[in-house]
Amino acid sequence: MKSNLTTDQMKRGEFLRSLGLSSATLMAFYCMGTTLTSCSKSNDPAPATGTGTGTGTGTGTTGFTGNADASAGAINYTLDLSTTSYSNLKTVGKFAIVGSTIVAKTKDGSLIALSKACTHEGTTVEYRAAQDDIYCTNHGSEYSLTGAVDVGPATRALTQYKTTLSADGNTLTVKA
Ligand code: FES
Repeated sequence: MKSNLTTDQMKRGEFLRSLGLSSATLMAFYCMGTTLTSCSKSNDPAPATGTGTGTGTGTGTTGFTGNADASAGAINYTLDLSTTSYSNLKTVGKFAIVGSTIVAKTKDGSLIALSKACTHEGTTVEYRAAQDDIYCTNHGSEYSLTGAVDVGPATRALTQYKTTLSADGNTLTVKA
């Protein structure tokens, strides 16, 4: 009887130890998981915040058809402005970068398209609603809405593309 008790106690002890070990192991995994999670979170770059009015749409986006890459041939594409990707272009002051081009809905409500690369050193330009012009943030070149240089250091104009909006206002065609 005595020996049975001892055996039972030993068994219980072993059982509890094994439970303890198991819990500790589980905790170790849990902590490791937590650490990894928080580690990966702390290594993530802070979310980008911006005050601009542009949209970062590309040529693989829904609502885009054609060629917007000047190095792959003549610019010739259509944008479906009823899609969320390009619906911003229905609003005055907004712009989108599409392949090699920048498309903007200017102050007078027109849609313009120009080459996006500043002719100074190639930085992607932006449309400035307040000034109603095209601006390069790199060294401050300013272009008119036809692409002509207003303020250097750029000396060559941006390429202007023809834009045609469908009667329903939903399809914009941009061509060389
Ligand atoms: S790259 Fe645009 S002004 Fe220099």
